[in-house]
Amino acid sequence: MKSLVILISGRGSNMQALLEAGFPIEHITVISNNPGATGLEIAQQYGAKTIVLDHRLYPDRQTFDKALAERIDTCQPKLIALAGFMRILSDSFVQRYQGRLMNIHPSLLPAFPGLGTHARVLQEGVKIHGCTAHFVTSQLDHGPIVIQAAIPVLPNDTESTLAARVLQHEHRIYPQAVQWFMDDRIRLSNNYVEVLDARVDEIALYSPGLPE
Ligand code: GRF
Repeated sequence: MKSLVILISGRGSNMQALLEAGFPIEHITVISNNPGATGLEIAQQYGAKTIVLDHRLYPDRQTFDKALAERIDTCQPKLIALAGFMRILSDSFVQRYQGRLMNIHPSLLPAFPGLGTHARVLQEGVKIHGCTAHFVTSQLDHGPIVIQAAIPVLPNDTESTLAARVLQHEHRIYPQAVQWFMDDRIRLSNNYVEVLDARVDEIALYSPGLPE
């Protein structure tokens, strides 16, 4: 059984993209640390199992992460996909799932790790922006890269127009990265990801066109 756990904290649009990607819904569990996450309702509409684990009920990060790991392990997932999970994970958690913990980040890593990527991109006058699906390591937003998509930053872009265009690409690349992993097409060695039998234009996507 190739089960998938998706961790969310909020809106859940990347989770939704994963739920629509054709993985068997009965093998997907969505866990939120935020009881008010709108993504929880979406997950239920799709028929995925949902679990709420409110981090505020735990005294510290280690205790929460331990409880989270226990829940995850009951699902025996092949992969754990972070999809807007707004918690820094402890080193022991990251190590426990090394090589099967993935994240989607709204920048072309290693540029612009952390929060507020679109605002910082505009502030720096960067001309090409995008998103990255990567494995998680203990260094925040810095693990081995699976797939990236790039878009131009347009002269009249605002934080929200840029966020919306990048998000469209997140919804393309994240399901692709997860699919490759579930199909055993990802080889990870020395911090480098090789996708077996993939063309370079499947791994590095560039969309120079203006938005429709
Ligand atoms: C996305 O931009 C994702 O890249 C980042 O957090 C945001 C989550 O959005 N990690 P959503 O909850 O998937 O809609």
